[in-house]
Order: sequence, then structure tokens, then C-alpha cells
Amino acid sequence: MTNLDEATLERAKAMAARDDFPLKGFSHLEWWVGNAFQTAQFFRSHLGFQVVGYRGPETGTRETAAYLLQQGQIRFIVTGAMGPEHPVSDHVLRHGPGVKDVAIAVPDATAAFETAVERGAEAAAKPHVLEDDHGRAVISAIQAYGDTIHSFVELQGEMPGFERREDLVARPAGLEFVDHVVANVELGKMDYWVEWYERVFGFTLLKHFDDDAISTKYTALMSKVMWDGSGIIKLPINEPAEGLKRSQIDEYLQFYRGAGVQHIAMHTPDLLSTVADVLGRGLNTLAVPRTYYEDIWQRMPDIAVDHARVEELQILLDQDEGGYLLQIFTQMLQDRPTVFFEFIERRGATGFGKGNFKALFEAIEREQGKRGNL
Ligand code: FE2
Repeated sequence: MTNLDEATLERAKAMAARDDFPLKGFSHLEWWVGNAFQTAQFFRSHLGFQVVGYRGPETGTRETAAYLLQQGQIRFIVTGAMGPEHPVSDHVLRHGPGVKDVAIAVPDATAAFETAVERGAEAAAKPHVLEDDHGRAVISAIQAYGDTIHSFVELQGEMPGFERREDLVARPAGLEFVDHVVANVELGKMDYWVEWYERVFGFTLLKHFDDDAISTKYTALMSKVMWDGSGIIKLPINEPAEGLKRSQIDEYLQFYRGAGVQHIAMHTPDLLSTVADVLGRGLNTLAVPRTYYEDIWQRMPDIAVDHARVEELQILLDQDEGGYLLQIFTQMLQDRPTVFFEFIERRGATGFGKGNFKALFEAIEREQGKRGNL
């Protein structure tokens, strides 16, 4: 984290308020993992991502193997190292498999980098050019929370640096675009990162989510959503809050050894179909206790969904002033209880399932209580 003096902070804030920071949306997410081949295959077989590119020893990259995956507008890069001396190996040793880079598409990666650094962001990679027969990219990067970075990607054509692959075709699961990417940060650090996103990107706090604690009698977390104002970039930030028991955020911070990406929410126009599909492929979603549904249909009488099917697939529902949303969370994607996915279908709602979280947590705790484990 950068420490800035008062005057520099004020000047950077004034700049952020005055100038806009043009963004085009999420570019891609880069995962640093122990075995890129298997991770890529898992995303292909269980989630419907097509492997469109490969980079590794066979293509002239000696130290890493990386797969470029795509579904709808969602792009993942999955990278593994060939030996223990590579930074990817260090990262995996410390954090386990995780998201290294939440990359943002910009019209000008040089200007984005210069502006961000001027506003106090720490440089991670100076602007450099990647080019091949398929496309050209100017890429730069800044440090974000923990060991995570934000790359700025100015892309023309297709992502360069990968040999095209057409042999690993996937059957898509209906996932369209990244809806939001959630960060877990250390206790007391949420407001630091809120201020950081305000200052560096000119982001604002999404009002209706505000700073309420999502709490039950036993566990609590604080969450604030930073966004670019148009909705193409939404970054919720969680921190643990004091509760009688350890919260899920504490657990993440312990096992990830610090701040990092907790979950990636991907939008689907038909959540029921997507969930039925991925369950059939062997992906596991979070079990919802039966008690969750006992009052949900009374709380949300206007929702036009197949009740029996929603309960059968264990889908969660929430509503706000704009409409409603359907969501579901996967089980952890690795051995450590750190990173997972959310699938979300928005029908007017712009929230993140807050009401739902409380109801779900309480339901989980009721079940725990019945077993005498609370
Ligand atoms: Fe979410």
C-alpha cells in the first residue's frame, strides 16, 4: 500500500473527481494455479469455457504454461509455472490457486497507467506492447489489494501471445459476462480500499448497498460496493466484522494468507438452465437448507419463477426496488476455503443479494443449532 501525505491525497482526490478514467469493462481474470492444464480442463468440462489459446514451452515460453479460455464475453487466463523459482510458484505456495489479475479493458493503457500512478497507485508493470498475427495489446498494471493486480488492457483484435487452439471445444453453460468481482480485505482495511478506488479510478460507492453490516446473531461481515457509475465494473469489498463466531471472511483471510479475490459472479440470462446444466456436469453448488424456502415465497410473492424448480436446484432469490435476482454459489474451487463462483440472473434488481445473505446465514445457523453445533 502506498502512503501519501495529506496534500498529495487531496490533490489526487481532486483529480479523480474532475477527470474521468475511461474504462471499457472487465478484460479478463488471470488465475495463478499449480496445474494450468487441469484447471483449464475443469473450467472447460464443468463450466463450459472453450480453450481458445495456449502459450507454453511448445510455443516458445519456457517458464510458464497458460491457457486462454472464453465463454460469452468472459475471458480467463490460467497460468502455471514450470519450476519453483517462478513468481507463479511463490504465489501458489502462499495463497493456493487464486486470481492474480482482475484486468480492465481501457481505450488507452498508457494514459490509464500514468493517471493511476499519479493518483497514488503503485506500479506493477509499465506499459508494454504484445503483438502477434491475431492482435495487438498495450498492457500495463498497478497493485491492488494483497498480491492482486489490476492490468490495463488496450486491445486491438484478439488477445495476442497465444497459439490458437480449436481442439478443446466446450459446450457453453450460458454464462455471458462478469457481473462483479468481490475482494476480501483485512479487518479495518475496507475503507482504505474504498478511498483507493475513489481516488485512483474515480469510482463511487453504490448507494443502496451502503455500509450496513450483514450480520446474524453469530457472524458478521461488512461490505461496500465500488462501481464505475455505469455498471460495467462492480467491485464489492468485504471485511470481517466482530461477531460471536468466526466469519467466512476471517476464514478466507486465514487460508488465502491475506486479501484477495473471494468470488467472481457471472451473469446468465437463464439461471435455472445454467444450474441444471452445471450440476449435470458434476459441479457442486452450495446447499440451501429447506428452512430458507419456508418464508421466501411469502416475502417475494410477485416473483414469476417455478417455485418447485427453484427449490429443487437450491437457487437463492432477492429483490430490491428495481426488481429481483436469482443467484447461486458454487462450492470452493480448490482445497482451501478461498475462491468460488456465483452465477446470477438479474431481472431488474441491481443489488447483490444482501437480504438473501442474511436469510441464508440464519438458515445455515438454524441448521447448525438443530445439530447442537452452534
Ligand atoms: Fe456476489
